[in-house]
Amino acid sequence: MTSEARRLEDGTRVVVATGNAGKVREIAAALGGLGWQLEGLSGLPLPDETGTTYEENAALKACAAALMRGVPALADDSGLEVAALDGQPGVYSARFGNRANDNERNLYLLEKLRGQRDRRARFVSVVILAHPDGHVETYRGELTGRLLEGPRGESGFGYDPLFVPDGETRTLAEMTLEDKQAISHRGRALAGLLAAQRSA
Ligand code: IMP
Repeated sequence: MTSEARRLEDGTRVVVATGNAGKVREIAAALGGLGWQLEGLSGLPLPDETGTTYEENAALKACAAALMRGVPALADDSGLEVAALDGQPGVYSARFGNRANDNERNLYLLEKLRGQRDRRARFVSVVILAHPDGHVETYRGELTGRLLEGPRGESGFGYDPLFVPDGETRTLAEMTLEDKQAISHRGRALAGLLAAQRSA
């Protein structure tokens, strides 16, 4: 966390600044216990992700939404870092290979790793809670694991069907939302936010 958590009361309106339905599901599930009134973007435009770090991109999205809506806003910026690709695609995970959707990006990644024995990778998530007055709180989570040679499972989103966390046999796409949340990069970042709210 980069600045002190400010407690938000039960019933506070908070915009979830993402158009990614998978992220919305995970954020809503993790923060249900706080009693915040989570709102979608409903047409609110988000800025281009012009940053070179997860922190910059998450701050761009959260600060823009908080300013435009006049209430606190939450954003996640995340990505997959592949050891054999020197950490790529990282912050560019949503645009990897200029492919149009999750399935095509997964195929593109498999192609890039064809014949590669080093399958190590990690997910990183940075969650930012921004207030309309510019106050920003940052939470980070990581998950290490390895990439399979073909997809398995139907749950989750993005690269989940290719990724087996360390100590697991299932891919993230073979887990329930609760099981993924308990170990995932985003689950960990959100657990940090929860803990900070509870002790603020
Ligand atoms: P962005 O944060 O909107 O730039 O997009 C992050 C991209 O990283 C997503 O579109 C996915 O491709 C990938 N990603 C991030 N988190 C996850 C996850 O939990 N599972 C699978 N893919 C993820």
